[in-house]
Amino acid sequence: MTAPHRQRTALVTGASSGIGLATARALVAGGHTVYGTGRNPDGMPDDVRVPGVYYLPLDLADPASIERCAAQAGPVDVLVNNAGESQSGPFEELPPDDLERLFRINVLGAVLLSQLVLPGMRERGYGRVVMVGSMLGSLPLAYRSSYCASKAALRTFASAARAEFAPYGVWLTTVEPGSINTGISGRRTHLVRSGSVFEEQYRRVISRLDAREAAGIPAEEVAAQIMDAIRARRPRPMYAVGGGSRVAFAMKRTLPESVTERILNRQFGVRF
Ligand SMILES: NC(=O)c1ccc[n+]([C@@H]2O[C@H](COP(=O)([O-])OP(=O)(O)OC[C@H]3O[C@@H](n4cnc5c(N)ncnc54)[C@H](OP(=O)(O)O)[C@@H]3O)[C@@H](O)[C@H]2O)c1
Repeated sequence: MTAPHRQRTALVTGASSGIGLATARALVAGGHTVYGTGRNPDGMPDDVRVPGVYYLPLDLADPASIERCAAQAGPVDVLVNNAGESQSGPFEELPPDDLERLFRINVLGAVLLSQLVLPGMRERGYGRVVMVGSMLGSLPLAYRSSYCASKAALRTFASAARAEFAPYGVWLTTVEPGSINTGISGRRTHLVRSGSVFEEQYRRVISRLDAREAAGIPAEEVAAQIMDAIRARRPRPMYAVGGGSRVAFAMKRTLPESVTERILNRQFGVRF
């Protein structure tokens, strides 16, 4: 007999702030045993520690750290691949080392962690893997090319692998948030050169993005969507949540791609 949701063990990456923190809290409230990660959990202030969450160190840029984290967590029924870096910069100026780090953290790290927990899920006949992507993974925006590409890659891994695991009661899904007020703007990596020909337009895009984030929905609403996805008998391939995502995805469904691309970029001050 499969255990009810409340007895499941969950692992949430990036549980030290924002969406991951809110999701860890929601999972504890739902009766799960919850592991949450941060790069330095011992240094986490008391006010971001959720009572009932067991904190583990995890740096997704480091495969050895990922293996240690999976071993420390043990059997996991629900994995929320939430941790990520928000990288921005003109395509022409993205340094190879920064690109590699981004893809290690946002894509390859999440893939390796999933590979480490999926065999146990498959053998036990139950599992949920939630990728926290981004609306920008489906609707790309100028000066966010590396971030958009990383989130599209993450979603595509999950979407393609769904059919491999569904027969075992294991479902992979992606939640794509729009603008969420988590303070992520202050933690973005900016990769624009000083004096760059793109600098003025880049600054315009980022200031509009930051304004949208500040006016975005709270992380708890994304956490509620993640909980619905986890509880669904057959989670959908993708869930969009918050920050203009309904209108944006409606545009994507109904308009030619070239029109959607122009409207989206113009909203952020990029004309072409
Ligand atoms: N906020 C938004 O508007 C928005 C919109 C769309 C998608 N998203 C996505 O949602 C996810 C959460 O975003 P958020 O807004 O909650 O961001 P956040 O508050 O900045 O949280 C990011 C989390 O990722 C962890 N992290 C960063 N680098 C890491 C690394 N190298 N290894 C392991 N963990 C790392 C951080 O933990 P430590 O620093 O403690 O290690 C932190 O807990 C991200 O994947 C983001 O791309 C956010």
